[in-house]
Amino acid sequence: MSDDLKLTILKTLAAKGSIEDTANAFKNVPSDVVLGALKSLESHEMVTYKTLTTEVWSVDPEGQDQLDNGSYEARIFYAIPAGEQGVSIDELKTRFGAIANLGQGKGFKNKWIKKSGDNIVRLVNTIVDQTKVDLETVLATGTHENKETIKDLKRRNLIKSNKSYSYAVAKGTSFSTELKKLETDLTDDMLKGDAWKTAEFKQFNFEALGLNPRGGHLHPLMKVREEFRQIFFEMGFEEMPTNSFVESSFWNFDALFVPQQHAARDLQDTFYLEDPAAATELPEFWETVRDVHEKGGYGSIGYRAPWSEEEAKKLVLRTHTTAVSSQILRKLALEPYRAAKYFSIDRVYRNESVDATHLAEFNQVEGIIADKGMSLGRLIAFLDVFFKKMGITTIRFKPTYNPYTEPSMEIFSWHSGLNKWVELGNSGMFRPEMLRSLGLDEGVQVAGFGLSLERPTMIRCGIKDIRHLVGHKVDRNMIETDPACRLDKKTGKEVATADTK
Ligand code: PHE
Repeated sequence: MSDDLKLTILKTLAAKGSIEDTANAFKNVPSDVVLGALKSLESHEMVTYKTLTTEVWSVDPEGQDQLDNGSYEARIFYAIPAGEQGVSIDELKTRFGAIANLGQGKGFKNKWIKKSGDNIVRLVNTIVDQTKVDLETVLATGTHENKETIKDLKRRNLIKSNKSYSYAVAKGTSFSTELKKLETDLTDDMLKGDAWKTAEFKQFNFEALGLNPRGGHLHPLMKVREEFRQIFFEMGFEEMPTNSFVESSFWNFDALFVPQQHAARDLQDTFYLEDPAAATELPEFWETVRDVHEKGGYGSIGYRAPWSEEEAKKLVLRTHTTAVSSQILRKLALEPYRAAKYFSIDRVYRNESVDATHLAEFNQVEGIIADKGMSLGRLIAFLDVFFKKMGITTIRFKPTYNPYTEPSMEIFSWHSGLNKWVELGNSGMFRPEMLRSLGLDEGVQVAGFGLSLERPTMIRCGIKDIRHLVGHKVDRNMIETDPACRLDKKTGKEVATADTK
């Protein structure tokens, strides 16, 4: 079928030399079909063509109404009786509704009618309904010779334009009246014989859109994680090795001076391992830790409750990355003193029921700063800079309780979208009971803070349910295409100007 059309075009060209206007030459063929044939012939360089565009106007429903019943201005005119009295504006409104105003306006302009007090009166006795005449012209010819008329009718939504396409065609460099099938591929069969010598190849189409390359995409969490990492590196932090998800209760709790009776250790909050259930041994300084729990020391009276080795050996899925920080601090204590800053971003586990904002596992962003003279004031100053780098310029602190830090502070930021303060994380100065039993010198203070990676990621991506960020409900398309899953520095500005009450 389309080959027929192509042949017809070629034959017409052979006979006439060129085709001035395809719309005329092939009256019954839709212009897009003609275009398809022309494009194909052009790719074989058999023809060249130019697009001719014409604008055809058609009458819209509102225009049709005025064709059928007279223009609004004519209808209003005929509703006004001749003479001084005229008719009241209110009555016209009741009779004609919305078109009363339109008709009057145009009638005033045409000097057909005028206002007289609350009434409208005629200025002339006969009129020519030019709008209707013009619409009839458009209906019959598809256009109007007066461009101003076209503009006016279009502005009044009485007509609309439909573009029509036609083409002027000429012979191309490879013109012939026969359709050749050009090769699209150089095949090994052609190369084996001589076919390649005479084969004619189709031109490459450099206009064709390529396929989107398929490939891996970073999960939004990983993108935000990378931004955090860069901030930490910028601020002189070293990364802690966080590749072991299983830790002993000793490192996860005891070394952090978390009492063995603490609620967080309950099965409901912590995942305990069944097999193996316990670590084979405790670090060599375990007795120091036991003593500070049972009897105190370093100015503390301790918990004054029995401490069990067995409890400390229980293996858990780490409930926080502070289980890694405690080991790093122990290492630091065994080396000659140096000020140090460490961070980690990795997964932790909590035995929680899953809902829109909680999963049984999440990622924690954690930082510790060890220095002589480290103080709460310096921690606040640090967090201020740290969050500013994330685009969060207003943060607030609220006292809280952690077994391993004193003082402890929750960190909040103003969320202009939610219009409230949202908790970002937790922080504090590690207690001497913990630091001294880990072996750090007196005078070395350590500040720490932790936050979830999921919360800022959800805020950046506009995700309200954490199950749409992690797990089987995640929309892969979002992961592949959402560039917004990044820290948005601009949002920070809004946070800064938000009301702090
Ligand atoms: N471990 C704390 C948490 O799980 C975070 C924290 C780290 C708090 C270090 C203080 C110091 O939220």
